Amino acid sequence: TIEEREREFQEKIDSGQKIEPKEWMPDEYRRQLIRMIGQHAHSEIVGMLPEGNWITRAPSLRRKAVLLAKVQDEAGHGLYLYSAAETLGIDRQTMINQLITGKAKYSSIFNYPTTSWADMGAIGWLVDGAAIVNQTMLARGSYGPYSRAMVRICKEESFHNRQGYEIIYQLANGSEAQKKMAQDSLNRWWGPSMQMLGPSDADSTNSAVTMNWKIKVESNDTVRQRFIDRTVPQAHAAGLTIPDPDLKYNEETEHWEIGEIDWDEFYKVIKGYGPCNAKRMKARNEAEEQGKWVREAAAAYANKKSKKQEK
Ligand code: 3HC
Repeated sequence: TIEEREREFQEKIDSGQKIEPKEWMPDEYRRQLIRMIGQHAHSEIVGMLPEGNWITRAPSLRRKAVLLAKVQDEAGHGLYLYSAAETLGIDRQTMINQLITGKAKYSSIFNYPTTSWADMGAIGWLVDGAAIVNQTMLARGSYGPYSRAMVRICKEESFHNRQGYEIIYQLANGSEAQKKMAQDSLNRWWGPSMQMLGPSDADSTNSAVTMNWKIKVESNDTVRQRFIDRTVPQAHAAGLTIPDPDLKYNEETEHWEIGEIDWDEFYKVIKGYGPCNAKRMKARNEAEEQGKWVREAAAAYANKKSKKQEK
């Protein structure tokens, strides 16, 4: 019976077994994974836009080469994650259509403008830093293809994170103007990076389900706290100030405590009203349109080749 199947499935999850694509799984487990992996893939693809903006403006050939490598990695992460989502029975074009029609979400963090070179540092340091903390948690998740994808992606994220912190650290220890640029960037990116790890546990609508089935093995607040504890000392080591007057270190718990997160801003951004949502959607729709002839030509060539092989 369905109850027996669900009980068996829960026992597998509780015993820490990985679930593989061909195994039976509850529809809601499948839906939650398609939702999270699809949005993760969309985030990687949209995330290339704010950084791509600075490839032609990088201050040196080395910085250009490193940024180019990072943006190419993000494209690879996106394609890798679309493939992981396809193991659940959804096809890539369906996911792409959901993104470009605004039906599917992507990370709130990518709806902000990158107005200075220091933002390339802040994104690598804070955004990829938060992503690493979150993804090392997801790598312990119950769905085989996703957890394995996380292991591979985290290796590249560490390079992204180090190069970002190096940019910020050098600016913060450079001229007065450079230090000001680094502090201004931290001021603009700190709040959104707090929001990026999702609503607080009390307000998270999916966490109860995703944690019961170990899709997510730790809560949004736990991951956020780990990210904060790791990042505040890095800001101080670079001589930068965290833009939060309520920040304080709790000797008892040995955690850094932050002030209120601006959830109104978060929900505004994920509803599509952030500073760059329209720009990101326009870019993704244009890419889909302008890339159509390339996909059709490649498909036509592949068909011709396979017909020749059949003869
Ligand atoms: N941006 C956009 N939407 C968000 C969000 C965010 N930062 N945080 C939450 N949401 C959405 C959720 O998708 C959900 O909406 P839905 O039900 O319509 O999908 C709603 O807000 C309620 O939030 P929940 O807490 O219930 O959502 P989750 O449990 O899914 O937690 C999450 C949010 C932590 C982002 C989780 O989805 C997750 O870990 N996703 C996989 C990782 C991922 O997508 N990371 C995005 C960044 S990728 C990146 O930074 C790449 C790096 O290389 C630059």
